[in-house]
Amino acid sequence: MWAIVVMVAIALPQSVFSKQLVCTMELNRSCSLIGAKVSSDDVPTATFSSPNPTTLSRVQFSRSSLTAIPPAMFQTFPKLETLNASSSDIKQVQSNNFAGAKALQALYLRGNKIHELPALAFFGANRLQTIDLTDNAINTIEATAFKRLRDLKALLLAGNSLTELPTGVFDDLSEMESLELQQNELASLGDRLFQGCPSLTSLNVSHNALKTLNLAQFERRWNFDLIDASYNQLTVVRIPPNLRQLVAIGNGIRTVESTATNGSELILLKLPHNKLTNVDELPVFEKLITLDLSFNRIREFDFRSVTRFGKLVLLKLDGNQLESVSNSLTAPITHLKYVHLADNHFTHLDLDVLRTVPRLLKLDLRRNRLEQLSVTDLSDSFPVMVRLMLEGNRFRCEASRPLLKELKGSITAYAMTRNDCRKDQNLIDGICCS
Ligand SMILES: *[C@@H]1O[C@H](CO)[C@@H](O)[C@H](O)[C@H]1NC(C)=O
Ligand SMILES: *[C@@H]1O[C@H](CO)[C@@H](O)[C@H](O)[C@H]1NC(C)=O
Ligand SMILES: *[C@@H]1O[C@H](CO)[C@@H](O)[C@H](O)[C@H]1NC(C)=O
Ligand SMILES: *[C@@H]1O[C@H](CO)[C@@H](O)[C@H](O)[C@H]1NC(C)=O
Repeated sequence: MWAIVVMVAIALPQSVFSKQLVCTMELNRSCSLIGAKVSSDDVPTATFSSPNPTTLSRVQFSRSSLTAIPPAMFQTFPKLETLNASSSDIKQVQSNNFAGAKALQALYLRGNKIHELPALAFFGANRLQTIDLTDNAINTIEATAFKRLRDLKALLLAGNSLTELPTGVFDDLSEMESLELQQNELASLGDRLFQGCPSLTSLNVSHNALKTLNLAQFERRWNFDLIDASYNQLTVVRIPPNLRQLVAIGNGIRTVESTATNGSELILLKLPHNKLTNVDELPVFEKLITLDLSFNRIREFDFRSVTRFGKLVLLKLDGNQLESVSNSLTAPITHLKYVHLADNHFTHLDLDVLRTVPRLLKLDLRRNRLEQLSVTDLSDSFPVMVRLMLEGNRFRCEASRPLLKELKGSITAYAMTRNDCRKDQNLIDGICCS
């Protein structure tokens, strides 16, 4: 009997002794590995099989658990362009792990348990355009991890445990357009970290622990589209002339500077939940379209400040400490269309103060302490105002009559419902009052 066992063993192919993973074909040269289990001992020897392996372009793991991607994958599927091994319990990427992945363009390793990207982690996979490592546990990246990835366009490292990045780590990424580093623990970013990335136009470093961010390193002759530095500990931002959009919510920003000497490209500046005290402390941004300074510490505002932003359409000043607004504009501004003044401290407001902003479409005055709102001729002063938001105020019924008359003769929608009123308020002609 022993002799028979030995003979059978010799006759069987090698694959019986190594893990063989069978890929189920799907449409479009794509196949799925469902429920694959590969322990660390299996990784070096695991093999793959599928119909037409040499033409396959996409492999997708599902409900699988693998310690690492077995290197045999790229020998078996030499034309593999997309590999999706998201949420597959992967713990390791080894040096040269992807050396055989000559055709690979997109690698999705989201939601795994990778702790480290070693030297030359992706070396050899020269055609990679996207690497998605979102939501792993990466705390160490070796300086050469991304060596020679000269086609890489998107590198997604959000949701890891990075505290620092080694000098030169992105130096070969000359085509990288988009970099996600949000939700890490980065305490600083080197001043020359992006010197090898001339194509970078979108950077997200929100939800880190940055105390400073040297934006000067993004200065180039062409535009940089977007930087999101929200939820860090910045106190100053110095905006380079080529930056188009800066989002920095929830820092401790007290100072905004511009390094432009000959005009700035900035079109969007979003700085809610910071410590700014005055709109006039902002530099001039002649192309700015959106300015969001909600939930800062602004106590005074004059609409003349808007002239610093030659194209401003949307102005958000909600959640500040405004009790009144003034207007020393001498000529009308017609670009401003949306003004948000909710959650301030207004008790009385005369809309005539906004007469030099005649193209206003929407005005938000919710949740102030307004007892009275007056206006001389609503449809004449604001012929296109389609929405006036008044919920959450303290209107006096008697004092609201003239306003109601104006509202009824205009195109402005304003009506509140019973649910918007407090217990002690009545709903009269769409206005909660007492
Ligand atoms: C197959 O690939 C083509 C071209 O890439 C695409 O347009 C099509 O939607 C794909 N079909 C399926 C079923 O995935
Ligand atoms: C990768 O696979 C996961 C399921 O494991 C799926 O949710 C995700 O959409 C896939 N990603 C891509 C880019 O195909
Ligand atoms: C940056 O990342 C944060 C956190 O994931 C996200 O909420 C935010 O929308 C991103 N910023 C941009 C501009 O996409
Ligand atoms: C400033 O900008 C104008 C046009 O935007 C351009 O003609 C001029 O050469 C620029 N000057 C400098 C010093 O860059």
